Amino acid sequence: MDFLEIAKSRYSVRDYKSKKVEPEKLEKILQAAHAAPTAANLQPVRLIVVQEDEGISKVGKAANIYGAPLAIIVCSEHERAWTRPFDGKKTTDIDASILTDHMMLEATELGLGSVWICYFKPDIIREEFKLPDTLEPVNILAIGYGDGSPADPERHGVQRISMDELVSYEKL
Ligand SMILES: Cc1cc2nc3c(=O)[nH]c(=O)nc-3n(C[C@H](O)[C@H](O)[C@H](O)COP(=O)(O)O)c2cc1C
Repeated sequence: MDFLEIAKSRYSVRDYKSKKVEPEKLEKILQAAHAAPTAANLQPVRLIVVQEDEGISKVGKAANIYGAPLAIIVCSEHERAWTRPFDGKKTTDIDASILTDHMMLEATELGLGSVWICYFKPDIIREEFKLPDTLEPVNILAIGYGDGSPADPERHGVQRISMDELVSYEKL
């Protein structure tokens, strides 16, 4: 699949088979995260890979991961993140999210389903995984083999705003 085919065929999977993600596929997903850029290459990011039953039930206290056998908690380290000098904006969420996106699309390429999760209780994740105060859990990426029919790769024509609304040239 070329990149656009991968991007179009990805969809949020909210029903998973119990089949585990193979270690070699997990490794490729993590390599995709490792290759992701971050602002000024400061890499204020940490990944917690959760696939043991105990860890999955800990994640389940904070979020619905739809029965996925693998969850990757993507954390940002505020003190290490790049800050834009003009307005003080930190790139913590942006850096965490580009890693998340790289992993999500690599998972698609490997024939895996995934869903990006922000609807979680951060305080529970902090407590269950004993995160230091310097680390913020930003995203959870649930990954596994989807159970059910895939979404139509051509659905974006109706499920997204129009290209005209999304894009303007030279002026808004
Ligand atoms: C930043 C972000 C946060 C999201 N959080 C959740 C979530 O907490 N739970 C969930 O089921 N889906 C979540 N999603 C998935 C979106 O709802 C989904 O991507 C969107 O509806 C488009 O559908 P599609 O992924 O099937 O194309 C999130 C997606 C993004 C990008």
